[in-house]
Formats: sequence, C-alpha cells, structure tokens
Amino acid sequence: MPKRLYGVREIGPSELRSGRVEPHYQKVLVRLLSAHAIAEKLTALGYQRALGTVADSSLHPVIRKNLAEERRHARLVYKVLEEIGVAEGAADRAMVRMLKSPSFEAPRYFAERAEGETDLLMASLALDATGLLMIGINYRDSSYAPHARAAQIILEEEAEHDEFASMLLGRAVERLGADRVTDALRRWLPRAVNFFGPPGTGFTYDCLRYGLKSRDNQELADLFLTMLERRAGQLGIALPALTPDYPHAAA
Ligand SMILES: [Fe+2]
Ligand SMILES: [Fe+2]
Repeated sequence: MPKRLYGVREIGPSELRSGRVEPHYQKVLVRLLSAHAIAEKLTALGYQRALGTVADSSLHPVIRKNLAEERRHARLVYKVLEEIGVAEGAADRAMVRMLKSPSFEAPRYFAERAEGETDLLMASLALDATGLLMIGINYRDSSYAPHARAAQIILEEEAEHDEFASMLLGRAVERLGADRVTDALRRWLPRAVNFFGPPGTGFTYDCLRYGLKSRDNQELADLFLTMLERRAGQLGIALPALTPDYPHAAA
C-alpha cells in the first residue's frame, strides 16, 4: 500500500489552481470522477429501462424513486468535474474505451439489455450494493473535498437502494425458487465483481497515493462477496463459484 500524500478533504479546486498539488493528481482525479459519473448515469438509464420491462407495477414507485436519485448522483459528480473545467460530454468521450471493459459490463447491461424483475434485482445487487461499498469506503474519505461531499449525499440514498435489492432478493427466492435465483447469479455475479475493476493497477496505486481511494478494488470485491454470501446464505442460497482472476467468470 503506497503512502497517502493528502488527507481526507484536504484538496479543493483552489488547491488545484494554486499548484501546490502534484500535477498528475488532477489527471487521476478526472479519470476517477468520469468513471464514477458515467456509472451513475448508466444506472439511471437502467432504472429508466426497468420501468418499461418490469411488469409488476407495484415496483414502479421505487424504480422511479431510484431513477430520480441516480440522475441526481450523476449530476452531482458531473458538477464536480465542471468545477475544474471538464464538461459532461468531454468526460463521457474519455470513457468510451473504458466502457467496453469488463468492469463496465454490469452498468451497460442494465442500461441496454436488462429485461424484467430478475434482471432488475441482479442489477441492483451488482450496482447499488457494490456502489455502496465504493462510495462509502473509498469516495467518502476522498482527499478531494467536493467528491467526498458528493459521496456523503449519495451514500444515504445508495443505502436505501441496497435495501431494495435485499428485498427483491428475498422476493425472488420466494417466487422463483432457489435454483432460478442461482442461475441468475451465475450470469450476474461475475459482472458485479468485475464492476470493482481489476486489482493492483497503476491507476489504483495513484488513487491510493493521492488519497482518492482508501482500498484496492480487490479488497472491496472481497468485502462485497462476503456480504452477499451471508445475505444469500440466510435465504438458503450458495453463491456460484467464480474464476480466481479478473475478469471473473462463472467457474
Ligand atoms: Fe447512485
Ligand atoms: Fe443506486
């Protein structure tokens, strides 16, 4: 683990302008914020899509609530980028190649291809339960104060999204049975774990050194699996095995 150069909320736009921060910091920050922003935006698109594909209209009010909140999360993070001169379009264009990587398969699938209640449940586990960890553990304690503040706001709503995912999981086991839920997990669990990104990259090393993250992707992925294993176990479901290395697949 590299030594952290900047403390929690130590840096803001004026520190960046003052030149007292390492020049590479801003580049790493922009890439991290751009990835966070587009993940929120794709999640919003996924909830939007779910309104058209989830038949049970009793779920629609919560889907609408989550949709509005994900849009707000995206806005908040794009605003942090705009403050330092990066427009939404430019941030998104820089992400085009990244979007094709395995770490973005979950949000892309949710936004573009998910169908019906089971996919909604799986996407919520893969995006909200994972996002809660990334935001609560990494971004809330960011050295970049505007990102830490945005994370603080997002966190409370993500905790509710995670409760929704938990409720849907219980409902799915009851209605579809453990076998079908396990099948769906075999398709979705690799995407969910890959969403944390590859372990031990140079980019994450820079994020840790600059205090833009506090844990490596692998640590968060392990935490997620432990949490989900416990939750699924309470419902009598064992998580499907995964291949050991990123990008993970069902074993
Ligand atoms: Fe969100
Ligand atoms: Fe969410």
